[in-house]
Amino acid sequence: MSEIETFEIFLTVAPGLEAALLSEVRAAGFQQPKSVPGGVTIQGGWADVWRANLQLRGAARVLARIGSFRAFHLAQLDKRARKFPWGDVLRKDVPLRVETVTNKKSKIYHAGAATQRVEKALVESFGATLSKEASLVLKLRIDDNNCQFSVDTSGEGLHKRGHKSAVGKAPMRETLAALFLRECGYDGTEPVVDPMCGSGTFVIEAAEIAQGLLAGRSRSFAFEDLANFDAEAFNALRLELDQSGGLAAGPRFYGSDRNAGAVEMAAANAERAGVQEVTSFVQRAVSDLERPEGPPGLVIVNPPYGARIGNKKLLFALYGALGQVLRERFSGWRVGIVTSDNALAKATALPFLPVGAPVAHGGLKIRLFKTDPLP
Ligand SMILES: C[S@@+](CC[C@H](N)C(=O)[O-])C[C@H]1O[C@@H](n2cnc3c(N)ncnc32)[C@H](O)[C@@H]1O
Repeated sequence: MSEIETFEIFLTVAPGLEAALLSEVRAAGFQQPKSVPGGVTIQGGWADVWRANLQLRGAARVLARIGSFRAFHLAQLDKRARKFPWGDVLRKDVPLRVETVTNKKSKIYHAGAATQRVEKALVESFGATLSKEASLVLKLRIDDNNCQFSVDTSGEGLHKRGHKSAVGKAPMRETLAALFLRECGYDGTEPVVDPMCGSGTFVIEAAEIAQGLLAGRSRSFAFEDLANFDAEAFNALRLELDQSGGLAAGPRFYGSDRNAGAVEMAAANAERAGVQEVTSFVQRAVSDLERPEGPPGLVIVNPPYGARIGNKKLLFALYGALGQVLRERFSGWRVGIVTSDNALAKATALPFLPVGAPVAHGGLKIRLFKTDPLP
């Protein structure tokens, strides 16, 4: 596979957020974006793989589909795997592990045996270094007797932006936060308030979007260890994509939480992300929430949910208080509430629009409940 050749790139996302990711991918100008269960596919080359990792806020991982062949039994898999041009993408010296998924439509159904054959072929025909702990993963998917190989080009999940060392009890993943902001119509031009900000995920994500900061600017990626990586071209791409330049006169971002530790943590995370100038975090219960001066914007909040933290009765009272404060003090602002419990959302008595698809998060199904500007 040469650099100019295009191939399919699979951008994974938490199921339920495919449409939101598709909208981000389209806006970012990637080629032939298509929504599929669990993600979005695009067509592109290695520079698109790098750009998707660096720029997209909603994708969980970027998988490069590097090739496929048909195999009806293990000996055939072995033989074809030995002929595969691994050296176009992989390096012999970079430790690697293989992960296989199979399904019932294929003659090769034993994932463990398929993995072993491919590993053996990689070592004997190419000289690969295998390690169970390797961060570089070659994925094999056998579907309808078609063996498709993908490289996970992200490494650590893309929700790890690289500047959050402190997290609270139930942090929202940055990738989900970015997509929920998008689903609320947030475009970086309005202020954002999160009155139960925890580690500050929504506030920091919103501030980064407003400042034109690249999602992946502070981290490394698995693709940097591939044979075709060109550090100079990648640095040029980073510079070209970077739209940051400080927004002294831009919108402001406000987080509060009743927990002093959370507020401290959020402020430290914002500082590491380089958005401390436009964000503020204060210790405050939701009942004391005040409307910031200036134009209206978006209140987005991920209150505690029953199954994770706390006691149901108290939670109903908390959601009731949140709804009351927003209805009384936030006229003209839109609201987005992320919760796992429809009855709790209802307890806010806010005028929600039709609710979106459930999204898998930490073993629960969460949903975004959003409003138009409040009367
Ligand atoms: C699910 S966590 C939010 C996580 C956050 N989105 C993040 O990414 O880290 C809920 C937060 O609500 C806060 N909280 C609970 N009751 C509150 C209240 N009455 N006023 C303000 N904050 C409250 C908790 O301290 C906790 O940090």
